[in-house]
Amino acid sequence: MTELQFKRHRRLRSSKVMREIVQETHVHKQDLIYPLFVAEGEGIRREVSSMPGVFQLSLDCLNEEVGEISSLGIPAVVLFGIPHEKDELGKGAYHDHGIVQKAITQIKENFPEMLVIADTCLCEFTDHGHCGVIKDGDVQNDSSLLLLAQTAVSQAKAGADIIAPSNMMDGFVAAIRQGLDEAGFSHIPIMSYAVKYSSAFYGPFRDAADSTPQFGDRKTYQMNPANRLEALREAESDLEEGADFLMVKPALAYLDIIREVKDRYNAPMVAYNVSGEYSMIKAAAQNGWLDEKAVVMEKLIAMKRAGADLIITYFAKDVAKWLNEAK
Ligand code: PBG
Repeated sequence: MTELQFKRHRRLRSSKVMREIVQETHVHKQDLIYPLFVAEGEGIRREVSSMPGVFQLSLDCLNEEVGEISSLGIPAVVLFGIPHEKDELGKGAYHDHGIVQKAITQIKENFPEMLVIADTCLCEFTDHGHCGVIKDGDVQNDSSLLLLAQTAVSQAKAGADIIAPSNMMDGFVAAIRQGLDEAGFSHIPIMSYAVKYSSAFYGPFRDAADSTPQFGDRKTYQMNPANRLEALREAESDLEEGADFLMVKPALAYLDIIREVKDRYNAPMVAYNVSGEYSMIKAAAQNGWLDEKAVVMEKLIAMKRAGADLIITYFAKDVAKWLNEAK
């Protein structure tokens, strides 16, 4: 045989230790953010039917859950609210004693080291399920901004460490930054859902948060999944308006967008591994069709490799457990 010329890549894969010392990307517990659904009422620990292992919790059941999250070593939670009553203007979102405000205060009192991130949106609190004020059948941009800024300020007053607006109105970062600064919260960072697509992967979340739009869809404010350059414009304007973190959502079908935003902009990058991405793995795992742990770790590594610094995921508790066991 004549002499073959080729490279031997397998040298670096020859043993577990060898593979470990050349591993380029890691998932750490410090990267994880766990979403919590807090419901008005008592004694509520209701599993979301399309999201096995995820619960709506009332305040009296919340400390146990946050205690577990904290002892696992997860540094942060993001809060969504399920109010008793909804109305046209989503008043529950910016009420000083709204369910999210109460949950924030309770968590900070009992677990001061836990970072509490408040999702800032109206859709869980409006009777029509849209993320802003409705007039003539459409979501109004500028009048919604006032209510969103008010929501952010009330969340900061309640003790939120980070404000995470997910509503996709134009100017929401500018409006919220100004609102926070004027109310004395210039030290509170904004984690902007800068690049949020109008995605079918949010389906199970809308069960969990009871926030399905009662008419139409969110396509006049959330982005078209076909667009890449528009994602860069969204990220750029949010940074100019004062965003401290940039988020891309969903994660799995948008890894190219995570990479591109990360390469162009110098801000901590957050990937939201959304509800549908959780449910499809859960369903396959429950059928014995996939190895849940292996698949979850592989997809979180993929998000980190694409450029995410932080990952919001319903798998956070499982991942922290697996990482703790591996030690
Ligand atoms: C609120 C909001 C949504 C999600 C996070 N914040 C739903 C939506 O935009 O319809 C989805 C999260 C998930 O699917 O896990 N605007």
